[in-house]
Amino acid sequence: MRLCGIIQVSCFAGLFPASIQAIKETYDYVIVGGGTAGLTVGDRLSESGKHSVLVIEYGYLEPDGQRPGTLYNITSAPVAGLNNRTFPVSIGCVVGGSSAVNGMVFQRGNAKDYDVWGELGGGNPRRVRWNWVDMLKYFKKSIQMTAPKPETAAFDLRYDTKYWGRNLTTNHTIFATFGNVISPKTHAFYEAAKRLSGMKVSPDAGSGQLGLQYYQTSTNPYTGERSYSRTGHWDGLNRANYDLLTATRVNKIVFDHHRAAGVQIYPRGESSKKTTIRVRKEVILAAGAIHTPQILQLSGIGPADLLKRAGIPVEVDLPGVGYNFQDHTFIPAVSFSWLTSPPIPEHLNITVVDDGLGRTSLGLSVELPVVSPGSFKRIASKYESQDPATYLPKGTDRTIIRGYRKQQQIYAREMRAKDFSFLRATFSGDPSFVPIIIHPVSRGTVLIDPAAGSDIEVEPIVNYRAASNPIDVDVAVEEIKFLRRFMTTGELSRYNATEVVPGPGYESDEALGAWVRANTIPSVYHPVGTAAKMPREWGGVVGEDLMVYGVRGLSVVDASMMPTIVAGTTSMTVYAVAEKAADLIKLRAGTIV
Ligand SMILES: Cc1cc2nc3c(=O)[nH]c(=O)nc-3n(C[C@H](O)[C@H](O)[C@H](O)COP(=O)(O)OP(=O)(O)OC[C@H]3O[C@@H](n4cnc5c(N)ncnc54)[C@H](O)[C@@H]3O)c2cc1C
Ligand SMILES: *[C@@H]1O[C@H](CO)[C@@H](O)[C@H](O)[C@H]1NC(C)=O
Ligand SMILES: *[C@@H]1O[C@H](CO)[C@@H](O)[C@H](O)[C@H]1NC(C)=O
Ligand SMILES: *[C@@H]1O[C@H](CO)[C@@H](O)[C@H](O)[C@H]1NC(C)=O
Ligand SMILES: *[C@@H]1O[C@H](CO)[C@@H](O)[C@H](O)[C@H]1NC(C)=O
Ligand SMILES: *[C@@H]1O[C@H](CO)[C@@H](O)[C@H](O)[C@H]1NC(C)=O
Ligand SMILES: *[C@@H]1O[C@H](CO)[C@@H](O)[C@H](O)[C@H]1NC(C)=O
Repeated sequence: MRLCGIIQVSCFAGLFPASIQAIKETYDYVIVGGGTAGLTVGDRLSESGKHSVLVIEYGYLEPDGQRPGTLYNITSAPVAGLNNRTFPVSIGCVVGGSSAVNGMVFQRGNAKDYDVWGELGGGNPRRVRWNWVDMLKYFKKSIQMTAPKPETAAFDLRYDTKYWGRNLTTNHTIFATFGNVISPKTHAFYEAAKRLSGMKVSPDAGSGQLGLQYYQTSTNPYTGERSYSRTGHWDGLNRANYDLLTATRVNKIVFDHHRAAGVQIYPRGESSKKTTIRVRKEVILAAGAIHTPQILQLSGIGPADLLKRAGIPVEVDLPGVGYNFQDHTFIPAVSFSWLTSPPIPEHLNITVVDDGLGRTSLGLSVELPVVSPGSFKRIASKYESQDPATYLPKGTDRTIIRGYRKQQQIYAREMRAKDFSFLRATFSGDPSFVPIIIHPVSRGTVLIDPAAGSDIEVEPIVNYRAASNPIDVDVAVEEIKFLRRFMTTGELSRYNATEVVPGPGYESDEALGAWVRANTIPSVYHPVGTAAKMPREWGGVVGEDLMVYGVRGLSVVDASMMPTIVAGTTSMTVYAVAEKAADLIKLRAGTIV
């Protein structure tokens, strides 16, 4: 196959990506998107040497540490619940995807999150299981933990190797590393939080349990550099059967009698030069939660009415594609000042040698009954009694409403439970907090613009719809009140904190709610859920085996598959899902042991 147009470095598999001229016409597996999930699955499917794998990535292979212009330029639709403000939609456009540009905060969700994924499951011929116990197996397979240095012993840094499994002497893995440096200024917060009624201390940041926890970053412990899907699952592998094509857009999936037969692609910026790569076994979507639904819709898989308005022939009427969109929302600051800072106890006034691995942070993950002992029952009852369609977009398909009803029942139950968090925050050592609404109940959409027809160069319309459900505002208000109590009663009260933000004048729930709508940001850059693993009759897009409903040979392995967002940063979960997805793919191909 020949194509004109120069595409980056021309080479074979290995450190350098391929040009379109250098790749084969047919592969066993074609992976759309060389991001976090894409390269993980690519590594696993090619490691036996028996199958040919092509990863196609729109971004470039950037020199390490120099990544100008490696984000997509997308602005959200106005968010009505947040006073019609618009926001940048940050996602990585580079080999490694969002794992190449993210904040490297490396956390797991609550154990319950993954059990909820199981509850949101359905018809399951192969008896695939989604739950914490099974996911823990894949967390262990995907991530290598580096134990904390003895110097951190002065802090109550708890970790337990039973939640971690990998200990390879290779760089071909993803690392979760504790830095040597912990701010002694966090000590007073730790001690005070520990004494709050109901607050726990988690045995390990990866234990899936709530409470106070020191957590890692995705850092290579040998080099201090970012550990991401490219360093873990591409660089240095040099497999003749593992190709990476960069600066190439997948325009759509090509079907043959409802089987994914290949993908239509073109070099970045040259949409007239389209060609098709064919696939023998499977097309695997790993374009992330914003572009996976876009590619599905442009390929004729999505809500039929939307596709018809865009003039796209319907391959499968699958209303859930692009719905169920979730992200973590956050309040940029709730801050205080105090006259005298808490003293640093003598045993923590130690000289720590900075090992270049960054700082180990102290976080907390809190259930609603602890955030708000006085209001959690009222909020749960109020949420439970909502008609599930009320706060979903007008005209939402009844299958999606049914699936949301199930999520609503589960979340209302979990609002009263002790193992599902509604607040995440990090202690910086200063009396200032960034509370994250970690399990929002509002749902957004990622839908192609029908006016743009089938043009993939036009970005989809990203509608966060944050705070469209007033329950999320109620929870945010309780989070602010929790932080106020924390700072002004109990252990920390002796420092006589004065509230700076929101500040005086925001006393009633109504005043705080209005302040929340004016200040909340709808995204911590954790978009998920737009091709959810749920039963089709609940608006799901993929089954328990991650295969797209209504066609053969097509799966989704990225953050889009999460039916509900997890209570932690998302990349570690994406790696584990990708490892599990690779096993599911091998299982159906009959190549798993
Ligand atoms: C700025 C930022 C900060 C973040 N901070 C953290 C953090 O601190 N900790 C954490 O755990 N998580 C963080 N995240 C989130 C986390 O990185 C993501 O959830 C995760 O990496 C998503 O993985 P993915 O495989 O679903 O998608 P991605 O890794 O985004 O991969 C998708 C890939 O598909 C490519 N693609 C899209 N469309 C096409 C097409 N048509 N043709 C070819 N290629 C295509 C994209 O270019 C991209 O490389 C952050 C994300 C961002 C953007
Ligand atoms: C976003 O804009 C920047 C600056 O113009 C550009 O360098 C970059 O390539 C753009 N990103 C994409 C994915 O088009
Ligand atoms: C947001 O915009 C819509 C449509 O223009 C308008 O009806 C609504 O009143 C606006 N809301 C706010 C809070 O400004
Ligand atoms: C990994 O193995 C090395 C020795 O091979 C050991 O020193 C280290 O403690 C182990 N790490 C973990 C997290 O078990
Ligand atoms: C990992 O990479 C670093 C930097 O290249 C190197 O110093 C180290 O020896 C490598 N470790 C192994 C086990 O290859
Ligand atoms: C820390 O210890 C040094 C002496 O080792 C002392 O000079 C300094 O005042 C101490 N700082 C605090 C905050 O106690
Ligand atoms: C806090 O206020 C009390 C009385 O109002 C005062 O006695 C005390 O010194 C103050 N503490 C600090 C740290 O400012």
